[in-house]
Amino acid sequence: MVDSYVRFFDTTLRDGEQSPGATMTSAEKLEVARSLARLGVDVIEAGFPAASPDDLEAVRRIAIEVGNPPHKGDNSPADGSRVPIICGLARTITNDIERAWEGVQSASRPRIHTFLATSEIHMQYKLKMTRQQVLDKVREMVTLARSLCEDVEFSPEDAGRSDPAFLYQVLEEAIRCGATTLNIPDTVGYTTPEEFGALIAGIIHNTPGIENCIVSVHCHNDLGLATANTLAGIQAGARQVEVTVNGIGERAGNTALEEVVMALYTRHATFNCSTGIDTTQITRVSKLVSNYSGISVQANKAIVGANAFSHEAGIHQDGMLKHQLTYEIMRPETVGAKQTRLVMGKHSGRHALKQRMLELGYRIEEDDLVRLFERFKLLADKKKGITDADLEALVSDELYQPKEYFKLDGLQVACGTMGMPTATVRLFGPDNQAHVHASVGTGPVDAAYKAVDAIIQAPNDLLEFVIHAVTEGIDAIGEVTVRIESSAAGQVIGAQSEVDQLRTFGGYGADTDIIVASVKAYLSALNKLLAATGQYETAGAAAAH
Ligand code: KIV
Ligand code: ZN
Repeated sequence: MVDSYVRFFDTTLRDGEQSPGATMTSAEKLEVARSLARLGVDVIEAGFPAASPDDLEAVRRIAIEVGNPPHKGDNSPADGSRVPIICGLARTITNDIERAWEGVQSASRPRIHTFLATSEIHMQYKLKMTRQQVLDKVREMVTLARSLCEDVEFSPEDAGRSDPAFLYQVLEEAIRCGATTLNIPDTVGYTTPEEFGALIAGIIHNTPGIENCIVSVHCHNDLGLATANTLAGIQAGARQVEVTVNGIGERAGNTALEEVVMALYTRHATFNCSTGIDTTQITRVSKLVSNYSGISVQANKAIVGANAFSHEAGIHQDGMLKHQLTYEIMRPETVGAKQTRLVMGKHSGRHALKQRMLELGYRIEEDDLVRLFERFKLLADKKKGITDADLEALVSDELYQPKEYFKLDGLQVACGTMGMPTATVRLFGPDNQAHVHASVGTGPVDAAYKAVDAIIQAPNDLLEFVIHAVTEGIDAIGEVTVRIESSAAGQVIGAQSEVDQLRTFGGYGADTDIIVASVKAYLSALNKLLAATGQYETAGAAAAH
């Protein structure tokens, strides 16, 4: 009889972060990892340490800071988070496995996750290996991983298109060599829920030794079936699900964490499964990941989209007024959404701000509180009531920013129907000097970005620019996320393909003035690009803050 607890293995920082466009800085990854711990995930796949020294360092920091209780023996830090397993990904290559171990070994519960493809198409064309060679490699590398770490996960990549009989053999070998979790990926998002459920049931039924292991599922969303396939896997007996926040990931993405959590929660009678997730943290983590990755969430996205709990149609509104259950299967509060309650105003003090931030799950250091309070006061002068959502936008904009080589010092725009949109930008640079430039553009944002480009001179392509209001009303804060790509920052190797990808950088800015928010978002992405190129590292060190 399989237990009812479903483990959440979050791979936002690995499969999510390695998707084109989602590059996060080390500090951002650490902050996301902290939020995931507060959310209650069981395992954090913190990265692919062999990809680069930066990736290894980010995994190491997460292992030390998030993978350990603050006090020995205490598994529940005061902020409500639990200490998760910290996992590093490795191909079945000695160097990868050693780097993964180097990354995770400082965590109190480390895990190495290694993988090798098992489908005919991958073995023949990508690996150029026979079945026997794959079996031998799995034996050798799982044994190596297990000699370093007690907790080893093995994934037969492209399992969804693999011959089940061969899969049983490979998995049996991995178990014999010490794998403790067997993860079954539908790498290309090809299977249907019925097929995927049958694959998991077949594996559980036919693989010797699997009864002592955790069976895990890892689905991709190419046909929009990732959540359905994951739930089918659970119904067939899988007790770990691999997911990402907002479903970010390669191509159409991975299974969205929030969708599986809320399906298990809302349809508890159907699934009869428990989880360790605190659902009220979902909206907050979703926003954090979207801000840091620069990948915005579509408005109609289940659970975390801006419209997920809005009722526009008159007939729906009428029903809702008569009884919430007419059109609502979940309450927005359950996922921490709809923070429209006015919580603070002009007369609130610093202590009240600190207290409210703590209630929202942010532990703000004194220095940061001083800066945050200044921004809060400026906002309170412009806006009557300040909501939790406003406070979260301020924190992201003021505190969770990369090192600032260039900082916005002044902005003036002229636009409208009467002339050419013109922007004058003043930036404070790493040389401790103010730099001013004026440019003309197709609109005020274009003009401002051209002026910034003229000063910073870091060539890049703007891949995405998204703007939206944090709350309703004319005085709402505007949030902008951008994504830029540049060849100047070099390339990264992907875990699953030999093709290197150009690095991309996301930026976030928030302000009641949307042109200011737009420039801040662009500067935040550019500062990450400059950090990656290292061009201002010596000159800029002193000027950063
Ligand atoms: O999609 C996939 O196959 C993967 C593996 C590395 C688990 O991400
Ligand atoms: Zn994947």
